[in-house]
Amino acid sequence: MDIESYRHYANSLEAARQPAWRYNEMKPCGLNYNNIILAWMYDSCHRLFRDFKREAEQIVALLALSSDATVIDMGCGTGAFALHAAPHFRKVHAVDVSKAMLRRARKKARKARLGNIEFHRGGFLTYEHRGEPVDAINSVAVLHHLPDFWKLVGLRRMASMLKPHGKLHLFDVVFSFDVARYESGCKRFVKAMSAHLGSTGQIESETHLRDEYSTCDWIMEGLLDKAGFNVELADHKDDFLATYVCTKKDG
Ligand SMILES: C[S@@+](CC[C@H](N)C(=O)[O-])C[C@H]1O[C@@H](n2cnc3c(N)ncnc32)[C@H](O)[C@@H]1O
Repeated sequence: MDIESYRHYANSLEAARQPAWRYNEMKPCGLNYNNIILAWMYDSCHRLFRDFKREAEQIVALLALSSDATVIDMGCGTGAFALHAAPHFRKVHAVDVSKAMLRRARKKARKARLGNIEFHRGGFLTYEHRGEPVDAINSVAVLHHLPDFWKLVGLRRMASMLKPHGKLHLFDVVFSFDVARYESGCKRFVKAMSAHLGSTGQIESETHLRDEYSTCDWIMEGLLDKAGFNVELADHKDDFLATYVCTKKDG
């Protein structure tokens, strides 16, 4: 059995533990973050256009929580947020579906001697939060891995993990260009990613558009509302990136 067939077999065994109709979030769509080489190269690629520390500190400031707060980082990847946020909070639960990405994040946390990050393998649809409800959830560049209906299910599950008035910070590729001009909108996205990452950025953005599930701003805002969030801040950049800061609604 080759490695891809073995992975497929292992994924179907995992999926078998879920009802057959449930979306299998352990099976990668688009880029395969289970790939150890991709996980290994992730930081060096992303550092070409991201400053993880500055990003995390901006999110910490937007969340405006006390140092006693507990937060979940959903889709933590290699720890871009979790590692830099950990010194600001009592505890960070760092959750990801990819063992390879979690392995990288754990290794970095050990090296930085951060003892207040708990790592969990799981995702929007499968992570079971066992502790007290948390003060906030962060999720950066992850929700587009789920089709829209499953985004709604995932967002509702996250609302259920939050304390009353708990906060959600969400950043993702979300389209706010006019659909009549979708071709130029998509081309601008590919051009921007290629400018950051050359041919890797081109392949990543083309894969994203073709095989992943980024949605429109009005759909995303409807999903947040239906899932039980008030959108306090919606910031759309370049017509294809969005930041949302939300508060869990009463009741
Ligand atoms: C583009 S990376 C973002 C990682 C990190 N948040 C960052 O800011 O660098 C996407 C991550 O989402 C994870 N992922 C994909 N589907 C997921 C799901 N359904 N639930 C949780 N994480 C998921 C992938 O394994 C990958 O680590």
